[in-house]
Amino acid sequence: MMRLDKMLSHCGYGSRKDVKEYIRKGQVLVNGEIIFDDDFKINEEFDEVIVFNENVTYHKNIYLMLNKPKGVVSATFDNKEKTVLDLIDEYKSYNIFPVGRLDIDTTGLLLLTNDGALSHNLLSPKHHVSKKYYVEFKGEFKESYYNLFLSGIILDDGYKTLPSEISIISTYEAFLTIYEGKFHQVKRMFKSLNMEVVNLKRISFGPLVLDNNLQEGKYRLLNENEVTMLKNNEI
Ligand code: URA
Repeated sequence: MMRLDKMLSHCGYGSRKDVKEYIRKGQVLVNGEIIFDDDFKINEEFDEVIVFNENVTYHKNIYLMLNKPKGVVSATFDNKEKTVLDLIDEYKSYNIFPVGRLDIDTTGLLLLTNDGALSHNLLSPKHHVSKKYYVEFKGEFKESYYNLFLSGIILDDGYKTLPSEISIISTYEAFLTIYEGKFHQVKRMFKSLNMEVVNLKRISFGPLVLDNNLQEGKYRLLNENEVTMLKNNEI
C-alpha cells in the first residue's frame, strides 16, 4: 500500500505539492471513483489510477538507457561537473543511479536504474559482463598486438587484464570488447602498447546494445525484452 500522492509523484506527475493540487481539484480517479484525499492509500500494483484521463502504470523499478555525451560525469552528484542525472527530466523520484562509470570524455551506452540487485550483479567482477567499445586511437597498431589483447595486457600498475577481443576497422579505429571494468581500462590498455585513445564510445553492455536512434544526451526506458535479457545475464 502506498499514499496516492506519493505514487503519482513517483510516476512523474510532478512534485508532491503538484499532485496534491490535482487530487484536491478532483482530477484523480481510483478504481473509477474521484478521490479528493491525498492521504488516500492505494495498492500500487493492482488499483486502477487515472489522472487527466490517463491510465497510470506504477513501476517499482526503472531502467533507462542513456547515450552519454562528453562533459558529464557518471555520478548522482558532483560539486563541479554536470552529472548524467542532470540529463534526466523524469524518473528522478525513483532514486536512479548509473550502473558503473564512463569517463567524462567517453560517450555511449550507460544504464541507469534504481534496481540495486541488478546493478550489483552486472558490476560484480565474478560475472565478467562484456562491454564493447568503439575506439579511435593514435599510434601504430602492430600485427603482434592481436595476441596481446587476446592473452591479456599488462597495465601501468602491473595488473594483467583478462583476455579481450579486438577488431581493427581502419588505421585509427577499432572495436574492443572487455570483460571487466578497471579504472580507465581501455585507455590504459592502448597506452601500454604506445597508442593513445582519442575517442571512446561504449556500444554495448552485456546483452544491451546502444539504440542507434538515441542521440547523445538522450535516453529512453528499456523495453521488457531488454530488461529480461539483462536479468537473465545475472548468474
Ligand atoms: N575505459 C576507459 O578508459 N574509459 C571509459 O570510460 C570506459 C572504459
